[in-house]
Amino acid sequence: MPETTDARCPHTLFGKEFADDPYPAYAWLREHSPVHRTTLPSGVEAWLVTRYADARQALADARLSKNPAHHSETAHAKGKVGIPGERGADLMTHLLNIDPPDHTRLRRLVAKAFTPRRVAAFEPRVRELTDRLIDGFAARGEADLIHDFAFPLPIFAICDLLGVPREDQDDFRDWAGMMMRHSGPGGRAPRGGVGRSVRKMRDYLGELIHRKRAALGPVADPDEDLISGLIRASDHGEHLTESEAAAMAFILLFAGFETTVNLIGNGVYALLRDPGQRTRLQRSLADGETELLATGVEELLRWDGPVELATWRFATEPLTVGGRRIAAGDPVLVVLAAADRDPERFPDPDTLDLARTDNQHLGYGHGIHYCLGAPLARLEARTALATLLRRLPDLALAADPAELRWRGGLIMRGLRTLPVSFTPAAGVLP
Ligand code: HEM
Repeated sequence: MPETTDARCPHTLFGKEFADDPYPAYAWLREHSPVHRTTLPSGVEAWLVTRYADARQALADARLSKNPAHHSETAHAKGKVGIPGERGADLMTHLLNIDPPDHTRLRRLVAKAFTPRRVAAFEPRVRELTDRLIDGFAARGEADLIHDFAFPLPIFAICDLLGVPREDQDDFRDWAGMMMRHSGPGGRAPRGGVGRSVRKMRDYLGELIHRKRAALGPVADPDEDLISGLIRASDHGEHLTESEAAAMAFILLFAGFETTVNLIGNGVYALLRDPGQRTRLQRSLADGETELLATGVEELLRWDGPVELATWRFATEPLTVGGRRIAAGDPVLVVLAAADRDPERFPDPDTLDLARTDNQHLGYGHGIHYCLGAPLARLEARTALATLLRRLPDLALAADPAELRWRGGLIMRGLRTLPVSFTPAAGVLP
């Protein structure tokens, strides 16, 4: 019988208090039970890894598989782990569910199309999108920054990058919204709504890929969208099949959407609650500097990042992590948010310091599954923060922090709403 140490933890894991502020519980776990056996709200028994050194080691350990088929209780088949609605939607073969050699092959192919260069060339579009969204509420003097800004920005950005026509992007916003309503304790998506949204997205992407493949010319056009790039990508004569390309487009949307919403939401919230850091950033932006913005976005990700437990691994053989014996088939969750506040790695870890430079946080993971979308996430978060602070310089929180509701505490950590007020400003775009 596995030892159940959960009872000894003085903090209730996964309840409302934990969702509001998981960091005291993480501090306790790191100190007293750094590799901690617990029962998740779904009933699945799993290990939580909370120290930085153990987390980094676990993320790079090939004996810890991403493939849920290795789970001893096949919780994936029961819908208890993985992406909601993905089963039966032919979307299973994506990067976050597979190991080498399949992972190596798919990652190499997608990396040929989703290049840092493609992301850098996308910068003007992210700026335009950011300004347009702010135009939508600037004259009102108040907004919900999650609903009006942080939520639509990443979904429209990734749709544009993939090549989803503008007229269809509102459908994606609705489908993605359904997935987000599902996540976190007390998720409020209607029954079957998430599965339906995933299937609609799958069907849409499948048809789009089919159409784009048929229309593809013999030579790549420099402005070609990412879906066409994925279809064209080849490695040693190998290509993605249509269903692999659809699963890839889906995982780019899925992995890159709620994470970025929450990086922007958590980041703005942290700045609004820390006037010293916020003023420092605003001054540096006014002086035309970008360094503090760059280190600041990394620090916001370390300090209160969006990914809580979305890092499943399954032991393929018995192994030891942080001195604890883990049995074959056991699920292991690497708690990035806990590792990134480890005082053994980060001096004064609970202090937000936008100028922190020795900041090798695990917010984007580590090892072969290191976030493929990190350059895009950085671009979006830097543009979002800089533009908001420049255009709405007196932006202020318009709610009592105790009243705000967190979605997180399980997979992702993020606010449900972020009410703000500011002096009404004019739009910049016609
Ligand atoms: C993987 C975090 C944005 C695409 C990951 C992983 C983390 C992560 C922690 C590794 C998971 C694991 O090891 O189990 C984040 C954060 C983001 C973000 C914090 C935003 C702030 C994005 C964006 C995209 C993206 C914008 C794409 C458009 C991916 C993909 C993987 C991944 C495809 C799987 C890579 C692989 O398995 O090889 N991300 N991500 N992410 N991310 Fe991100």
